[in-house]
Amino acid sequence: MSSFVIQLQTPQLCHLDELVTLDQDCLGGLWTKEGYQRELKSPNSHFWVLSSDTTETLIGGGCYWEILEEAHITLLMIAPQYQGQGLGQLLLYGLLRDAMRRNLERATLEVRVSNQPALSLYRKFGFEIAGRRTGYYKQTGEDALVLWRSGLDYPQFQQELSTWEQQIKDRLSHNHWQFSIVEP
Ligand SMILES: CC(C)(COP(=O)(O)OP(=O)(O)OC[C@H]1O[C@@H](n2cnc3c(N)ncnc32)[C@H](O)[C@@H]1OP(=O)(O)O)[C@@H](O)C(=O)NCCC(=O)NCCS
Repeated sequence: MSSFVIQLQTPQLCHLDELVTLDQDCLGGLWTKEGYQRELKSPNSHFWVLSSDTTETLIGGGCYWEILEEAHITLLMIAPQYQGQGLGQLLLYGLLRDAMRRNLERATLEVRVSNQPALSLYRKFGFEIAGRRTGYYKQTGEDALVLWRSGLDYPQFQQELSTWEQQIKDRLSHNHWQFSIVEP
């Protein structure tokens, strides 16, 4: 049986409309088209997307801001019909790999206390809860947990990345998927 290839790549301006649609489907409208345009142009914002080589549609997107030696993850989303199949792991792997290559030391993000899938994913990659922001999400009043992942600059992090890469490959192969990284 032939394999489909999922590409991990940096987005282009032509992906803007698809990013906004993904955002609406996954996050209920976090950023506008202008917001995405700003992110794609910002030198401190590092953006990666997943796309399918067969349908050429975007499957997911993730982004972090480089602030001093820290990666502040601002976005992580997988299209609802593709969730639960290992692609969130692939995207997070891509962001952390990118941060390591830029010599960043640690990563951080905020997540809703109720977002168990995301929390479970971040824990798998070694993120730890460092704090809680009460009523952080204005619309619902929900609290955010603040997570940190240190050690991106330690020599063993490269080994951890290789281990995750193999696990992700094995997981994707269940669906006859492979992934390839398109370096910018
Ligand atoms: C969070 C999100 C990116 C995860 O992507 P995904 O492709 O579904 O995740 P994966 O299939 O790679 O799963 C990775 C791990 O996440 C956890 N996970 C995923 N779905 C889960 C679920 N429904 N319940 C519990 N844990 C879940 C598991 O630990 C899983 O590992 P496992 O399959 O080995 O048990 C995706 O659900 C999403 O886009 N959600 C909406 C947007 C969002 O909440 N983004 C995060 C904001 S901080």
